[in-house]
Amino acid sequence: MLNWLFEKKKNNHVNLDHIGIDIHSHFIPGIDDGVETIDESIAVATKMQSLGYRYMVTTPHVMWDCYRNTPEIILSGLQSIQQAYAMAGLTIQVRAAAEYFIDEHFSEMLINGETLLTLPGKRLLVELPYSTPLLNTSETLFSIIEHGYQPVLAHPERYTYFYNDLSIYKKLADQGCELQVNILSLTGYYGDNVLKTAEWLLKNNLITFLGTDAHKLQHLEMINKSDRKQWITKYPFQNEKLINIW
Ligand SMILES: [Fe+2]
Repeated sequence: MLNWLFEKKKNNHVNLDHIGIDIHSHFIPGIDDGVETIDESIAVATKMQSLGYRYMVTTPHVMWDCYRNTPEIILSGLQSIQQAYAMAGLTIQVRAAAEYFIDEHFSEMLINGETLLTLPGKRLLVELPYSTPLLNTSETLFSIIEHGYQPVLAHPERYTYFYNDLSIYKKLADQGCELQVNILSLTGYYGDNVLKTAEWLLKNNLITFLGTDAHKLQHLEMINKSDRKQWITKYPFQNEKLINIW
């Protein structure tokens, strides 16, 4: 009886230990729209560990109109959470990169060769505007590659202006851009259109990485409760290969 209960409980929760590493979250307190306090940061890291993650690269927003985060600000925040996690006895390893919004400031930093914080393998996590498309998405991604970085596009499934012509995703991938889908998109959290697009990307083998993009504990609880888990084990996400170059 007890065994049966235990199994049921176990099966009702998502286990992401074969994903192993998360590459998108907002866990440095007070510098973007993610967690606000160190205690909150400890709580999300604890939850990440219980979901099966052993590594995470947290990625505060760099968006010059709202979040003027520099490498100094991000790395000093990283030190604080690393100390706090160690004090709390957590074993999950944490590093920091950033989620760069593609704006004029980003292009300037890229062209001027300023320090940019990257995911393992010199990967640059970038995001696009949600409502209006950039005129030069392709050129910008090409320029990232030209400057020696590997672009990883955050949550491509959430840019609604791509929905009219899904072939854009193939073009981006062919151009050398890796696509990072949010786990929550596959749970239906952002609505049906996002879910459908994320599933289309899965079916077409266009997803390179899964990310939590967690901003708060509730996001991780939603992932944990999700009843659409079949995709997690079937699809060859490439997160784990980043552990080897951690
Ligand atoms: Fe994000």
